[in-house]
Amino acid sequence: MRNDPFVHWFHALEQRHLAKLNFSEIRKAVQALSSTYVERRERIESGSVFSGAGKRAAFAMYFGPLHFLLVREIVRALNAAVPSDGVILDLGCGTGVAGAAWALESEPSPRVIGVDRNGWALQECKWTYQQLRIRGTPKACDIRTLRIPARTAVMAAFTINELDPAARDRFRRDFIKVARNGAPVLVIEPIARRLTSWWDHWSHDWKAAGGRDDEWRFRVHLPERLALMDKAAGLDHRELTGRSLWLPALA
Ligand SMILES: C[S@@+](CC[C@H](N)C(=O)[O-])C[C@H]1O[C@@H](n2cnc3c(N)ncnc32)[C@H](O)[C@@H]1O
Repeated sequence: MRNDPFVHWFHALEQRHLAKLNFSEIRKAVQALSSTYVERRERIESGSVFSGAGKRAAFAMYFGPLHFLLVREIVRALNAAVPSDGVILDLGCGTGVAGAAWALESEPSPRVIGVDRNGWALQECKWTYQQLRIRGTPKACDIRTLRIPARTAVMAAFTINELDPAARDRFRRDFIKVARNGAPVLVIEPIARRLTSWWDHWSHDWKAAGGRDDEWRFRVHLPERLALMDKAAGLDHRELTGRSLWLPALA
């Protein structure tokens, strides 16, 4: 625990954001952001989740660490390996946590390319890579038109549900090709069916191709201040939940 890079990073993250805003301001923003993701999803497309210092801090300091911990548990449970000379492409990387969590669980730790369309998220992603000592590069890009380079492992955490159906369908086909060309793909989403009505179709293709579909619940130890924020915001992440589609390299 003491040498866990997550703990050091979380501590630095807290100092970085609490230097600008107080606990109660960030708590209010956590509640606002949580409501956007659950009830006011039309606001996501307009970029409103990243508007204002409070929401940015909440995204970075609250949702980021929770996503990091969930991804890490999933990667461990799946024993999700990246080819030894591999690179991880993190689609819709946000603050970079999902690709970073996967890279830190891989030996040797692969390079990560984080792509996102939001400039603030990419700045924060750069800082995440530096803090966690990841060999990572954030890149500005709209993933709807991105071609996935050959032999690149793909991570897409909480991103596919934000895409329009056409873009989602393209990835549904492209991800299977990525695996057939020798690189693994890991898609992670919330369990809520409302957000993942497309999941069963993907799962069908995934399993037919040799992959797997899982639902996860992990009891995790949250750092004290994260647990405090969780409770103060009226949320409960003592158990982290999510679902994943995993396709190992098939070639
Ligand atoms: C819910 S966040 C998840 C961030 C990160 N993967 C994580 O697990 O914390 C979704 C991210 O996808 C990005 N995103 C959504 N649609 C995108 C698109 N068309 N092109 C690039 N990034 C996109 C958003 O900017 C946001 O950073």
